[in-house]
Amino acid sequence: MGKDIFDNHRPQWKTHIGFLLAAIGSAIGLGNIWRFPYLCYKNGGGAFLVPYILALLIIGIPFMILELGIGHKMRGSAPASFARLNGRWEWLGWWQIIFVMFGVVLYYSVIIAWCLNYLLFSFGMDWGTDTNQFLFDKFLMITDSPFEIGNVRSPVLFSLCLVWFLNWLIVFRGVEHGLERANKIFMPMLFVLVLVLVGWSVTLPGAYEGISVYLKPDFERLRDVRVWIDAVAQIFFTLSIGFGIMIAYASYLPEKTQIVKDSITIAIANSCFSIIAGLGVFSVVGYMAHKLSIPVDEVVDKSIGLAFVVFPKAIGMLPGFSGLFGALFFICLVIAGLSSSVSIVEAFASGIIDKFHYPRKVVVSVLAVAGLTGSIIFTTQGGLFWIDIVDHFLTQYGLVTAGILECILVAWVCKASDLREYINRFCVLRLHSVWDYAVRFLIPFALIVILTNSIVKELATPYEGYPWLAIVLIGRDWLLLTLFFALIVASRPWKEKGQKP
Ligand code: PHE
Repeated sequence: MGKDIFDNHRPQWKTHIGFLLAAIGSAIGLGNIWRFPYLCYKNGGGAFLVPYILALLIIGIPFMILELGIGHKMRGSAPASFARLNGRWEWLGWWQIIFVMFGVVLYYSVIIAWCLNYLLFSFGMDWGTDTNQFLFDKFLMITDSPFEIGNVRSPVLFSLCLVWFLNWLIVFRGVEHGLERANKIFMPMLFVLVLVLVGWSVTLPGAYEGISVYLKPDFERLRDVRVWIDAVAQIFFTLSIGFGIMIAYASYLPEKTQIVKDSITIAIANSCFSIIAGLGVFSVVGYMAHKLSIPVDEVVDKSIGLAFVVFPKAIGMLPGFSGLFGALFFICLVIAGLSSSVSIVEAFASGIIDKFHYPRKVVVSVLAVAGLTGSIIFTTQGGLFWIDIVDHFLTQYGLVTAGILECILVAWVCKASDLREYINRFCVLRLHSVWDYAVRFLIPFALIVILTNSIVKELATPYEGYPWLAIVLIGRDWLLLTLFFALIVASRPWKEKGQKP
C-alpha cells in the first residue's frame, strides 16, 4: 500500500488539551469506578498498588507510547497504520477495531444504559431495600442460563437507544466538533462531580474503616501470581490500549507533539482517577457496614454487584439527599462510559474512512444502527450471561493476543528503535533505549504469561462454571468470527485517494 493513500486533509484536534481530554476520556471508564477499587481490595489492598504501579510504568506507559507513536507517525487508524508498517499486518488492525466495535462496545453500551436507568431510579429510590432482588429479578429479570435468552428488557432497550443516539451524535460531528467538544465538557464535569462525591463520602461515619479495608496493605498477597496478572490486565483495559483506539486518536495530532509527555499524562491522570474514585466507593461501603454493624468485608462485592447492588443499597441508607447522591453517582458512570464508548466507535469509523473513503456521516450513521442492533442481544433476560462471557473472551484472549502481536510487529518485524527515533524527534522528554527492550521482550513476555495462565485455567474449569457449549459458542466463536471478518476486510483493495467524496 502506497503513501499516497493517506490524504493530507486528515482532521486534527483543535487544541492539545482537547486531545488529552479525549484520550483521558477513553481511558477513564466504567472500569475505573467499579473494577479498580474491587481489584485493589481483592488483591491485597494498598499492596496491590505495587504491581499496579509497576505494570503502569513498565508496561502501560511504554505501550501507550508505542500506540501514540504509531498513530502519529503513520497518520492513520490501526489498520492503515499497520498496513503502512508492513502490508501483511493490516488484518491485525482490523481485528482489534472489529472486536472492540462488534464486541466490547456492544455490551459496554448496555451497561451505560443500565446506569441511565439507575439514574432515573435514584430519584425515587425505586430499588427498595433488597437491591439484589431488584437488579436480577425485577430490572433484568434474569433467566437461568445463557441459552434462555427470554425477552428484550424494554427499559434497557429504551435507554440503550439514547446511548447509541449520543454515540452517533458525538462521532458524527467529527474530531473537532464532536469528540473534542464533548470531552471538553464531559471530562471537567466528571472530575468535579467525582470530587464532590468523594468529598461527601469521606465525611460519612464508617468511611475510615471502609478506606482502611481498601488500602490496608497485605504484602503476602504479592506472592500470588494472579495478583500480578490482574494488575497487568487491568492496566491494558483501563488505558484502552491494544484496541487501536489510541492509534486513531494520535493520528489526528499535529506534527510537533510530545508523545512521551502525553502518554505519561494520560496514564497518570487515569490511575489517579481510579485511586480517588476508590476512596469514595469504599467510604460508602464502610458507611453501610457501619450502619448495619457488620464488617466491611461482608458488604463488598465484585464489579457489577458493587455498582448496582451494594451502592444503591448504601445510597438508600444515607442520612440526607440520598436521591441526589445516587443521581450524581450514576451520572458519573454515564459520562465516564460515554467518553469511552465514543472512542471505540471513532476507532472503527476512522478505519473504514481511511480504507474506503466513505463520508464520515454515512459511516457513523450505519455504525450507530449496526451497534444498536448488535447490542440488543445483551438487553435480553439472558443478556447478563452473554456480557460476562463475551467480555471475558475479548479482554482475556483477544486484547492480550492483539497486544502481543502489536509488539511483534513494531519490535521484531519492524525495528523498535525506528519508532523511538521518530518519537524523539519532537520530544523534549526523550525516550531511552530501554524502551526497545520493553517492547521487544518484557511486554510480550508478560502478555504471554497472562495468556497461558488464562488458557490453563479455562481448560481446567470453564469460566464461572458456565456450560462448555456456551463458552465455546458465545465466547470463542465470537472472537474467531471477528478474526474472520478482519481477514476479509484486510483482503479488500484500498480505495485510492482522490475518490474521496
Ligand atoms: N478504559 C475503559 C475503562 O476503564 C474501557 C475501555 C475499553 C474503553 C476499551 C475503550 C475501549 O472502562
